[in-house]
Amino acid sequence: MDKLIINGGRKLKGEVTVSGSKNASLPICIAAALAPGASTITNVPRLRDITTTAKLLESLGATIERHENTMRIDAGTINTVEATYDLVKTMRASVLVLGPLLARFGRSRVSLPGGCAIGARPIDQHLKGLKALGAEITLEHGYVEAIAKKGLKGARINFDVSTVGGTEHLMMAAAIAKGESILENAAREPEIADLADYLNRMGAKIEGAGTDTIRIQGVSELTPAAYEVMPDRIEAGTFMCAAAITGGDVKIKGMKLEHLDALTFKLMDAGVEITNRNDVVRVKGPRRPQAVNIKTRPYPGFATDMQAQFMALMCVAEGASVISENIFENRFMHVSELQRFGADITVEGNSATVKGVKKLSGAPVMATDLRASACLVLAGLAAEGTTEIQRIYHLDRGYEQIETKLAGLGADIKRVPE
Ligand code: EPU
Repeated sequence: MDKLIINGGRKLKGEVTVSGSKNASLPICIAAALAPGASTITNVPRLRDITTTAKLLESLGATIERHENTMRIDAGTINTVEATYDLVKTMRASVLVLGPLLARFGRSRVSLPGGCAIGARPIDQHLKGLKALGAEITLEHGYVEAIAKKGLKGARINFDVSTVGGTEHLMMAAAIAKGESILENAAREPEIADLADYLNRMGAKIEGAGTDTIRIQGVSELTPAAYEVMPDRIEAGTFMCAAAITGGDVKIKGMKLEHLDALTFKLMDAGVEITNRNDVVRVKGPRRPQAVNIKTRPYPGFATDMQAQFMALMCVAEGASVISENIFENRFMHVSELQRFGADITVEGNSATVKGVKKLSGAPVMATDLRASACLVLAGLAAEGTTEIQRIYHLDRGYEQIETKLAGLGADIKRVPE
């Protein structure tokens, strides 16, 4: 297992380019399974979760070719509708194949994902939606089996909670159901609009993705299409926090600042200067950030996927900030690791109170999930002395060449095989 060694205290300076979005690539690559034939998806980041997605599609019989950031997916050769526990347990998003396979082949059987480090993460809304589209669902031996012998039928679905995966899942299934579907209280994340753009490119008729009401006129079949994935807004946000926490001056290329309004306003409240010229976002950190409070919310609120990184920044702020996590019930695993840097944090229920300290001091720490890992990298960049981060395979699930990109900005960071 590799580890990262960071010698902190350097201000980051220079330019960095954002990769394609992990959380848009995953459903888009899975959506390719809806159309017989080959789709070519570009700007796909080279990450472990993407490799898992490719393996998942191959296990169904699809033919995959990958070259750098391009993935060609030929779903014409799909010959099985079962996704096994081995794949689903390594990546929860694998469960998103259930609906597309069901819609295209009339049956599908997929392992239930189980819990994960950040929360229970049930899929009841996905299953409720598939049932509304006419599927018979049974749960047995840890697998969910869905059958719709005569195909799926359009329906009105009202989500009980705002769910990104659930909205994506039902959008894909409804794309080739008979008749009209309406998804109400749908999640509004930009990745959902990106997936809808790809589906529409394949011939789907989807309107309203990115709002809370999505209308889908089912079509009888989809045809493969070429598509370029949107930039990764969470990677971009992580670089913004890296610039802020080191008091640096970083230009971020290829990002869409409009996807990060909630973070941008909070960073500006903390004293960070942010300007956007010709699609290059310049982020200048203050000498010391001011404490600000955040509450995670579904998009366009403050993203839960940026909570840990923002907490790292607040650890060195002037004053105390309150950070409330409202999306996942167990997303404070990074707190005890941040305390190893000397951070002053107390947690009560879903709120953490962070009293800023003048300096963090480098420490050996352990990554626990993807965004928690990113927050430890940020703390390590700002801390005095050396930080050693173990279990960085979490980081490799979601950040393309993070150490190379940060080293390009002047960070003293290296990957060491253990
Ligand atoms: N929920 C339910 N029932 C469901 C589905 C969700 O109760 O059927 C609950 C969840 O337990 C959670 C909340 O609804 O409390 C939101 O979950 P959501 O379905 O929106 O999350 P997701 O689709 O499983 C995606 C991202 C996550 C990101 C969340 C929230 C992907 C592959 N994953 O997960 O990304 O945190 O949306 O924005 O898109 C990450 O990249 O590090 C990551 C965890």
